[in-house]
Amino acid sequence: MYMSKECKLLQLGFSSDTWGEVIAVFFSNGDVIGLMPLGLRLSENCTLTGRLYRGSKLYNYIISTSTAKLQCNICVTEEPQLFYLSIFEKSKVVKAFKKCECPKKFCDACLTGLCRFRYEEGEDVIRLTVDVEKVLFRKKSPRVFTRASSAFIEALVWFTKIPYVKCEEIEEALKRIEFLKEVVYRSTQRELYIKLIEEVYSKARELVSSVESIRCRSRDKNI
Ligand SMILES: Cc1cc2nc3c(=O)[nH]c(=O)nc-3n(C[C@H](O)[C@H](O)[C@H](O)COP(=O)(O)O)c2cc1C
Repeated sequence: MYMSKECKLLQLGFSSDTWGEVIAVFFSNGDVIGLMPLGLRLSENCTLTGRLYRGSKLYNYIISTSTAKLQCNICVTEEPQLFYLSIFEKSKVVKAFKKCECPKKFCDACLTGLCRFRYEEGEDVIRLTVDVEKVLFRKKSPRVFTRASSAFIEALVWFTKIPYVKCEEIEEALKRIEFLKEVVYRSTQRELYIKLIEEVYSKARELVSSVESIRCRSRDKNI
């Protein structure tokens, strides 16, 4: 894949193998017509690609109006608050983005560009590509949020809990780690992350069987 040396998106943590979660805002004639958390991956020539699933208002808008492109802003932040607000208090966020292209209060970095939509008949997704025109840094080292890293860390936390959880909850802890492994699979193709999460899961299984045989099958349950 061709990537120019000065592709600033790499600095923000975007990559071609791992989904980066952002808040995307779509404009038409200056009006916000869509705002949503969205996963994006780095693609050829320093563009970003993503998928718009059936169900969102923007999906319906694009299908019903046959829109091929829209101006968009991509807000990069690792703070979960903006993701929350974009789901539960969308109108507040829309207002902030109408006032300012890149509200400092919310975004650590902002990308502005043109978003192109591609819809194939019979598919449930609209593929989108963002041609980034401008990158604005609001913080010294902004990074895009990745579900792969948060799921991996969460799996590690559950691994460290295994020796202490109640015997009747130990299988549940293992299930959580398995679920988090699935999240990592879905959110990255990076070999290192996949290898690491598989090791965590396999070590968790070993630990669970040893804890169960030592602690949970004796009369000293839950000690
Ligand atoms: C972190 C996160 C990432 C998401 N990624 C996507 C995505 O890549 N594509 C998509 O269609 N929906 C994605 N969603 C769901 C949309 O954000 C959601 O359907 C949208 O906010 C609904 O907007 P509406 O109320 O305007 O229809 C994601 C949600 C979250 C919380």
